[in-house]
Amino acid sequence: MIIAVDGPAASGKGTIARALARHYAIPHLDTGLLYRAVAANVRAMDLDPAVEADAVAACDFDDAMLADPVLRDDATGQLASIVSAHPLVRASLLQRQKRFAYQPGGAVLDGRDIGTVIAPDADAKLFVRATPQIRARRRHAELQANGSTISFDRVLTDIRSRDLRDSGRAAAPLVQAVDAATLDTSFLSIEASVQRAIALVELGR
Ligand code: C5P
Repeated sequence: MIIAVDGPAASGKGTIARALARHYAIPHLDTGLLYRAVAANVRAMDLDPAVEADAVAACDFDDAMLADPVLRDDATGQLASIVSAHPLVRASLLQRQKRFAYQPGGAVLDGRDIGTVIAPDADAKLFVRATPQIRARRRHAELQANGSTISFDRVLTDIRSRDLRDSGRAAAPLVQAVDAATLDTSFLSIEASVQRAIALVELGR
């Protein structure tokens, strides 16, 4: 069984995808980490994220890099949304994601284009959303818990600019697949979101 979980930054898609993977005992790939790894390489190699050839030169990394905590910070997320707009960067990460999705036994992948590009024939597709304010509140609390002093307004501005970039790009923009079920987590606890996600997957099976 292949489960595609897409949605904007801080919508809860990662938490839901991990919980689904546990529930169905299948492997999970957070595809945002791949773009974050490219972003971290661009920074480490002092390349220009806006230049496609530079970003492509940063696409070479091994799985061990995906565990690096630096990938999770907000600056890396912003940079990831710049490098991920380049078609050649997306092309270079495509096979790796498709291989993961179509491995025997199935998988859960979360990202922006899983249901539309990576696994268009997934058995279940969820599009996870929440209002920008609520996503910013969650992200802000998470950053504060990690010792950051960033303001709420700054986090909200960052979320809005990432939404615009991810939805507005020409290559695999963030868009709900026509056959994806919507899961709005704005007013749901994590537990309730996960239960709803499982119910939606079961409905589609
Ligand atoms: O999901 P996460 O916030 O970690 O993703 C970081 C960035 O990587 C996103 O803002 C988006 O630009 C990009 N991304 C993408 N396609 C995916 C996953 C992430 O373009 N499948």
